[in-house]
Amino acid sequence: MWIIVALAAAMFAFLTLELQRPDRGVALGAPFELQTAAGEPFRFEDMQGSPHLIFFGFTHCPEVCPTTLYEISGWLDTLGSEADDLKAYFITVDPERDTPQVLDNYLSPFPRVTGLTGSLEEMDKAAKGFHVYYKKVPLDEGGYTMDHTASVFLIRADGSFLGTIAYSENPDTAIEKLRRLLSAS
Ligand code: NI
Repeated sequence: MWIIVALAAAMFAFLTLELQRPDRGVALGAPFELQTAAGEPFRFEDMQGSPHLIFFGFTHCPEVCPTTLYEISGWLDTLGSEADDLKAYFITVDPERDTPQVLDNYLSPFPRVTGLTGSLEEMDKAAKGFHVYYKKVPLDEGGYTMDHTASVFLIRADGSFLGTIAYSENPDTAIEKLRRLLSAS
């Protein structure tokens, strides 16, 4: 009889702990193995441990990607030392053209942003993990462009999803969201 009581007590304690655990939100992402613009191996796990923002794009992007990269730089400048722990990742959805060297060149004006590329298969794992849409679109004049999700993902140090910053979001709103991310991590 007392074994049942002990088990029930243990179950009660377990449930209480579970219920008391603060809601850390939904984990986002899936394992992938890419490499940085510097050619270093980089895995999904390497993102964990620091609050971070993630943006998917490609270096031939005419407008959305360059604009977003300038906006990210602006946010980091505004936050200054507050954002020392914040990491920023640019994952290419066009790894066929965006080799590590191409990415390295493209991101040189944005030293706080880590570029990630790799095989199509591994990039696809990363994109699917974050529910990112991308599509190769042929151009009339030849070649192709890429359609892609333009949101910036905000991820806490424990890997849980805090929210997104939309393309061309009001800068004050963006800063407010980043401050929430930094205080939550
Ligand atoms: Ni783009």
